[in-house]
Amino acid sequence: MPSGMDTTTAEVRALYERFPYPAGAPELRLSCDAEALLGEVALSAPRRPLEVLDAGCGRGLGLVGAAAIQPDVRFTGVDLSRASLADAQASVKRMELANVRLAAVDLTTLEGLEVPPGGFDVIHSSGVVHHMADPAAGLRRLGGVLAPHGVLVLMVYARAGRERYAKVTQVIDAIAPRGEPVAERLAQARPVVTALAATHEAFAEAARVDDVEFVDRYLHVQEVSYDLEGLRQLVREAGLEVLRWCDPDYWTTPPLPNLPQTVDSDAVVAAVKAPRVFELLLVHPGNGPRAPLTAESVAQSRFRVSTEGTFELVTRCTPNDVRQEALRFRAASGRVHTLTGVLAVAGLCLREQRGAFTGAEFRDALVGFGTTGADAGMALAECFRIGMIVRLPD
Ligand SMILES: C[S@@+](CC[C@H](N)C(=O)[O-])C[C@H]1O[C@@H](n2cnc3c(N)ncnc32)[C@H](O)[C@@H]1O
Repeated sequence: MPSGMDTTTAEVRALYERFPYPAGAPELRLSCDAEALLGEVALSAPRRPLEVLDAGCGRGLGLVGAAAIQPDVRFTGVDLSRASLADAQASVKRMELANVRLAAVDLTTLEGLEVPPGGFDVIHSSGVVHHMADPAAGLRRLGGVLAPHGVLVLMVYARAGRERYAKVTQVIDAIAPRGEPVAERLAQARPVVTALAATHEAFAEAARVDDVEFVDRYLHVQEVSYDLEGLRQLVREAGLEVLRWCDPDYWTTPPLPNLPQTVDSDAVVAAVKAPRVFELLLVHPGNGPRAPLTAESVAQSRFRVSTEGTFELVTRCTPNDVRQEALRFRAASGRVHTLTGVLAVAGLCLREQRGAFTGAEFRDALVGFGTTGADAGMALAECFRIGMIVRLPD
């Protein structure tokens, strides 16, 4: 065990050295746009290149995806596992990214972490603190290197959704007791799970996943999962506050009859949907949501097309022509909006838009296409609401 490292951390490190996580290639994840995140909060970032930390970046799938689309933002990825960091470094090299640095850092001490003056503007920590012996202390430590205006994107396990794994775990524990080396447990467990999947649906998913996912899900040496109250306590104990869920659409209560005003709608959604993970944005007390857009502030406010959504132009080939049939916008959450009327005009302009624009410029562009000023204003509000455009920091 490396000197000074506690037993749990040493075991977690050994697991991820042997099974670097996750398998796969760099990807674009929800809430990866640093500038857009900082445009949501009340306190402003200083004028300098933004600094983002991925705390427990693993093989760097999210880190590299985010860095590739934000060349002006500086990314730091840290992890316990040198094998994972080597894979992340290979992706950085392959994609010729000049804005990523990687370092072996233990998040239970943060020793060796190079913190930019004033702290990181954005911190991502996905699937990490729940593997620590004291997750609240780990999260509090991350809060300590988050700038006062910063946003921390956290993902931790949700208990109800992970109960579906319990049956598999119990069988594995019975045939390959905990405490034995993970690689040996894996070798014993896989054929058993495959055999059980042939007759028992509860084992089908486990039989399909790759070894890395199998180990992370069913053979982990240290993990905690949370119910909603436990999550709130974790955030409180870390001295942070919730800004919002990463995917507010998911957490919107479906229309339900006779629902009292006082009901905890998050608790209703958690009970109905049993999410496997909680993904949320955290801030320091004293920071919080930015004042909403008003008729006065919108003209001067700066916006940009979301980097997390995509436009889909549906065309049809006829014998003599190619017809544009529909324009859709797929938001970061996956929700698809078919754009019609003024929104379609806005979408066609925004599809081609590079860089920032003010509310006044947006309105003038639409008025240039024959839209009234009032309709252009409503279109901007709707584009913002559905996540097609994001508001930038002042
Ligand atoms: C489930 S993986 C998640 C990887 C990455 N965040 C992602 O979402 O793809 C958990 C990662 O956290 C790292 N980790 C766990 N405890 C850590 C600690 N104390 N310090 C640094 N990294 C840690 C592990 O090495 C592992 O790479």
